[in-house]
Amino acid sequence: MCGIVGAVARDNVVPILIEGVRRLEYRGYDSTGLAVLNGGLHRLVSTARVADLAAQADARRIEGTTGISHTRWATHGAPTPTNAHPHVSNDEIAVVHNGIIENFESLRERLQRQGYRFVTQTDTEVIAHLIHAHYAGDLLAAVSKAVAEFKGAYAIAAITTREPGRIVGARAGSPLLVGIGEHDHFLASDAAALAPVTKRVVYLEEGDVADVTLENYAVFDARGARASRQVVTVKTSGDAVELGPYRHFMQKEIFEQPRAIADTLESVGAIGPELFGSGAEEVLRHVGAVHLLACGTSYYSSLVGRLWLEAIAALPAQAEIASEYRYRASVPNPDALVVVVSQSGETADTLAALKHASDRGHRHTLAICNVPTSSMVRQAALTYLTRAGTEIGVASTKAFTTQLIGLFLLTLTLAKLRGRLSSDDEVRWLKGMRHLPAAIGAVLALEPAIIAWAEKFAKKQNALFLGRGLHYPIALEGALKLKEISYIHGEAYPAGELKHGPLALVDASMPVVAIAPNDALLEKLKSNLQEVRARGGELYVVADADSHIESSEGVHILRLPEHAGMLSPIVHTIPLQLLAYHTAVLRGTDIDKPRNLAKSVTVE
Ligand code: M6R
Repeated sequence: MCGIVGAVARDNVVPILIEGVRRLEYRGYDSTGLAVLNGGLHRLVSTARVADLAAQADARRIEGTTGISHTRWATHGAPTPTNAHPHVSNDEIAVVHNGIIENFESLRERLQRQGYRFVTQTDTEVIAHLIHAHYAGDLLAAVSKAVAEFKGAYAIAAITTREPGRIVGARAGSPLLVGIGEHDHFLASDAAALAPVTKRVVYLEEGDVADVTLENYAVFDARGARASRQVVTVKTSGDAVELGPYRHFMQKEIFEQPRAIADTLESVGAIGPELFGSGAEEVLRHVGAVHLLACGTSYYSSLVGRLWLEAIAALPAQAEIASEYRYRASVPNPDALVVVVSQSGETADTLAALKHASDRGHRHTLAICNVPTSSMVRQAALTYLTRAGTEIGVASTKAFTTQLIGLFLLTLTLAKLRGRLSSDDEVRWLKGMRHLPAAIGAVLALEPAIIAWAEKFAKKQNALFLGRGLHYPIALEGALKLKEISYIHGEAYPAGELKHGPLALVDASMPVVAIAPNDALLEKLKSNLQEVRARGGELYVVADADSHIESSEGVHILRLPEHAGMLSPIVHTIPLQLLAYHTAVLRGTDIDKPRNLAKSVTVE
């Protein structure tokens, strides 16, 4: 969501602060800003991108050896220069903040009564003034007192003119880490921000406060006691933030899918519980049901997972939107395995759903996640790590297809433990999965035909996506991709539902995308497509080599070279990603940073 960087060094930290937020910019990009100490407090903000902040810093020759920077996804207040972080109290204290302070209104009223003047609509300004109100010569003490008053989720970093050479950070519900350099120290909300300066980091735990100076750092737990936290060497690579020959990260990430799937499968020798970490066998052997919890694209992969689990492992399974589950009076099933699925592992709703499940007595939890160091991985009992590599584009692509691999492996593992997977089937499925990179490569080669479709979609305002069975979640994913980056309204339906209402929308101006693999539901789907043609709707059919649907007036066919059976959702997703991408290119939208969105949604 938002991104935080802080640095205390012997030399000017402005380049580190700017490069750090450049690396986090994909997560939230409504505005950006920095503050450095250099005889006073110098604040610089931009509602353009980080490149503009860098240009301003150059032009104004801003320098300092202690500073903080931020990239913002707006929650409270519009993306204006005034609302951009850092927020400052009395020209002395500057703060950057990720998350939401839920009790900011009552705190603001109290601070106003104390004489503090508020100039922004943000909740963060409360933090700056509250730290100032508590300040009595020790920033660590002031921050500790302030955070004790917050309700909500936050990661913050604060500096003061009174103590140059010191940054104090705190986390609760939003990630923050200390970076350990050769001769300097840092704070960041993600290790990727610090990749050029250090790979040695200390992840703060819930309620921790970190005191960071040039020579040293110290961590204090929620009770104020000195805490020892492990120093971890992260494997962040600079490559992920480089575009290479691609125009956009989304395009790069779509084309990286064969490699991402191959990497995810690399360590899979055979199907077995050891894929999910130590102690998994004891848990998975006794699982009687599966409850998948996720948001957005990860929810759609969970919907596919649910169908696989029922069809192959014969286990009752449900997939649920995490933000709904956490507020529902559900009936806990002690035999159920709760699976959270998330690219980032930091999505606030999914994290809260995981906690809610634990609070309701669910002991068996598993995270399928792309970020090994994330909160979700640390909080779930079992883990399956996808190896998609860093995903920068806000629209999730390679994370989705690798999540499907993780969910398929879980399905096969549970099927095996339940005596429902023969060794022949195990070999056949593994072979099928290992063939996916080649199958996807062949679909990517169909890009020119998809660009021709995109030229028509780019002129539309609405589109319908139809699928049945395993491919209904893929229709949902196709519609989400289209709306997210092209701003065309896309809506997905199980094709059989068309006649129960949405058919009223179909006329000659409505493009209808149908996912039509040669599976057991194909003939049913063909009847649904006739219903569309009879109303003049234009059909764009993603078919298999042997789907036996011919192109004709108003019926456009994209024929995928082969049919992948139960794994077909993974392959059929690719054309829909490319369709959304090329439609957005033609409409000239900001593809990697679509309006109003953020990569990692760390607020409720
Ligand atoms: O990091 P997560 O997988 O938990 O994120 C969940 C959603 O916010 C995410 O999938 C979102 O829907 C994407 N922008 C979709 O492309």
